[in-house]
Amino acid sequence: MRGIAFWFIATGSVFVTIGMVGGIAMSIAADHTFAPAHAHLNLVGWVTMALFGFYYHLVPAAGATSLARIHFAVATIGVITMIPGIMFAIVEQGELLAKVGSLLSLASMLIFVFTVLRNRT
Ligand code: HEM
Repeated sequence: MRGIAFWFIATGSVFVTIGMVGGIAMSIAADHTFAPAHAHLNLVGWVTMALFGFYYHLVPAAGATSLARIHFAVATIGVITMIPGIMFAIVEQGELLAKVGSLLSLASMLIFVFTVLRNRT
């Protein structure tokens, strides 16, 4: 695997590793306060990123575009801002970061919808 597909899968793998460590920490501490952050890190940061990666691997023409690189940046920054944002929101320290992260994650999905439709064969 190479190119943007590799980067989506590699980054998602790092996100889920952090998510698993967080899940184990929650279990050990018997404190599930941050379960929503854990869930979003694993589902948006791993499952969604991995699906993007597999798509770009299956459709190399889509992965070779500069839009695919923009997609990767938007998706990655979305996860990196949304997860701490959810944690801040849970402890009532503001929701701005969660809002920024969720809008970036939505933008990432809209880019993907556009990409899928544009690469119909
Ligand atoms: C080492 C691996 C993992 C551990 C130890 C772990 C641990 C946990 C714990 C302790 C909770 C809180 C349960 C509760 O409060 O009822 C939780 C919730 C959750 N986990 Fe994990 N988890 C792991 C991996 C994953 C993965 C890989 C995913 C998804 C791909 C995932 C998705 C979720 C979801 C969706 C929730 C529910 C969150 C909520 O109710 O707000 N987890 N996990």
